[in-house]
Amino acid sequence: MVETALGVDLINEIVERKSVVAFDSRPIEDNKINALIEAARWAPSSGNGQPWRITLVRDGSSRADLNEAMAAGNKVWAQNAPLVVVFATNAPDPERPNSAAKKMLDVGFAGQNMMLEATHQGLRTHAIGGWDEGKVKAAIGVPDDHNVCFLLMIGYGGDVNDLPEDVRPKETRDRVRNDVGDHFFDGNFGSSWNG
Ligand SMILES: Cc1cc2nc3c(=O)[nH]c(=O)nc-3n(C[C@H](O)[C@H](O)[C@H](O)COP(=O)(O)O)c2cc1C
Repeated sequence: MVETALGVDLINEIVERKSVVAFDSRPIEDNKINALIEAARWAPSSGNGQPWRITLVRDGSSRADLNEAMAAGNKVWAQNAPLVVVFATNAPDPERPNSAAKKMLDVGFAGQNMMLEATHQGLRTHAIGGWDEGKVKAAIGVPDDHNVCFLLMIGYGGDVNDLPEDVRPKETRDRVRNDVGDHFFDGNFGSSWNG
């Protein structure tokens, strides 16, 4: 347990998870990758539909193509991570309103499970939304009617000094959150939670 700023204890993994940019190229052990998959697999989903379609990419030409699909500001550090996990959903159901949004949400739960398990395994993570959907789909062969949700870099922590100087502050920045009362309400939407 870790005591947070509010004086509340949280499990280590929630507090330790942080979007890092310094990754070591050391491969991740197979048993740890299996634990990541298992964690994501046990996420909740609407109607237990399990709409996640999760592709783990370690190397090869599809990995090189994925690196090229990332926004330049992400590629510069993300290309060093030994594992890229592409989180996608199956096709939305046209009969169900908000189907695409609900599927995205389910995939997000799976992603958070995987990040927390990775942290538990001594790994570091960083999710990104900065990529070109067409290029990501082409890189790994995602069907046209599926949606790519986010990419997750996973690996052991690396040396921030190996990165270009302008990227390093992303690793060392203070991690901040808005005040509780700005986002959490007591009984009525907009009535700040005061504890
Ligand atoms: C869906 C999603 C997309 C994100 N996209 C990017 C991105 O393209 N580039 C980046 O550097 N960080 C990205 N991030 C990381 C956020 O900037 C980061 O989670 C936020 O600043 C909070 O920091 P923390 O994760 O260390 O707590 C993304 C995070 C999420 C959940």
